Amino acid sequence: CGHEAVKEALVDQAEEFSGRAHIPTVEKNFHGFGVVFANGERWRQLRRFSLTVLRNFGMGKKSIEERIQEEAQFLLESFRNTKAEPFDPTYFLSRAVSNVICSIVFGDRFDYEDKEFLSLLQMMNESFREISTPWSQFYDMYADFLKYFPGPHMKIYYILEDMRKFIERRVKQNQATLDANSPRDFIDCFLIQMEKEKQNPSSEFNTKNLELTTLNLFFAGTETVSSTLRYGFLLLMKHPEVLGN
Ligand SMILES: *[C@@H]1O[C@H](CO)[C@@H](O)[C@H](O)[C@H]1NC(C)=O
Repeated sequence: CGHEAVKEALVDQAEEFSGRAHIPTVEKNFHGFGVVFANGERWRQLRRFSLTVLRNFGMGKKSIEERIQEEAQFLLESFRNTKAEPFDPTYFLSRAVSNVICSIVFGDRFDYEDKEFLSLLQMMNESFREISTPWSQFYDMYADFLKYFPGPHMKIYYILEDMRKFIERRVKQNQATLDANSPRDFIDCFLIQMEKEKQNPSSEFNTKNLELTTLNLFFAGTETVSSTLRYGFLLLMKHPEVLGN
């Protein structure tokens, strides 16, 4: 441990330490596809592409800041609608946060009342809960043996598979209405790249990587920030003096 060792691993030997571990709990859904669980050349292609597309859609720039400000207004509005009654902030925060990445990957934000959107966010919540159960953790240790048995460690598979199916439907909608000259979102850009590279046998731009990378971005752009905000809420409630009315 220590600064020197961490720097040596993550900076000086970044290549050797860039590997993603094998995670049996999600292996059945991902099989090493999608930017988050990929390794080597596949990871390199998907990472480079994802960064470029996210940046082209404004990530890290002024345009995404404006989108966030706009979404913050919707969030405040929904807080006001609670009329000062107590409420669970979980889905207030996750809907708002998720809408920022949704604008990029799906081309638009979802209405807060959208049933399908809420059910996707609930699935995401459940999947994190499932990953943290003793069952799943046990499965990660003894997968070679437990994979032959049914049981609660299989629940996460069905949740993630439902989420993938949602994305599969969105991809089909995009495909049917695609205009190669004006990509609307991440999915369009990926479809265009698939077409460009269809003669290239070592291309990683295929439907599997499209669906699973989109699922990765949707997850990563939702859970991280909304959990952090929720935790911030908790800290503010515990230390109301820092609010400084
Ligand atoms: C899931 O949602 C519940 C509230 O409905 C919340 O208490 C819990 O912390 C959430 N879990 C995650 C991982 O987001």
